[in-house]
Amino acid sequence: MPIRDIKIGIGTGWAVLLNLYECTIGKHCKIGSFTEIGPAVIGDNVNIGAFCFIPEGVKIGNSVFIGPRVTFLNDKHPPSNGAWRREPGTCVCDGAVIGGGAVILPGVTIGTGAMVGAGSVVTKDVPAGTTVYGNPAREGRNA
Ligand SMILES: CC(C)(COP(=O)(O)OP(=O)(O)OC[C@H]1O[C@@H](n2cnc3c(N)ncnc32)[C@H](O)[C@@H]1OP(=O)(O)O)[C@@H](O)C(=O)NCCC(=O)NCCS
Repeated sequence: MPIRDIKIGIGTGWAVLLNLYECTIGKHCKIGSFTEIGPAVIGDNVNIGAFCFIPEGVKIGNSVFIGPRVTFLNDKHPPSNGAWRREPGTCVCDGAVIGGGAVILPGVTIGTGAMVGAGSVVTKDVPAGTTVYGNPAREGRNA
């Protein structure tokens, strides 16, 4: 279980077989098996499913739910030799829900309380309180 250089809050638990490095994770989170979290910032009460990928440049607020196999991407035109670091990162605001298998392209903001459907490919910002799904993800009805 390679885990190094992380700051993690009280009450946070995780399954076996994780790859966590240089990340900051808040209190009372749950992290499923086979998930990789790099230099990202995760808030409190966040539920992260199994097989997720959360790399550098991603900031996740409080009480966010991330289903299994959610992939966050950070380099839109790879390999950019780190040029993506000069672009805005990805932000998931408080209370948002991301369905299983979703892919989140770099630099998007998923608004407070928004819902991303399972299997979606999110290419643009998701307004607070809205539900999006599909590829590319588009606004549906409020859940
Ligand atoms: C997005 C979501 C919240 C929508 O739920 P809902 O409001 O009850 O929507 P419905 O099931 O009534 O579907 C409405 C329409 O959207 C479509 N749809 C729903 N979810 C979809 C998705 N993820 N991708 C593509 N289309 C979807 C339905 O096929 C339906 O289309 P139709 O009107 O042509 O029949 C839900 O489908 C979803 O993806 N939830 C995430 C589940 C998940 O990943 N949980 C993780 C923990 S296990």
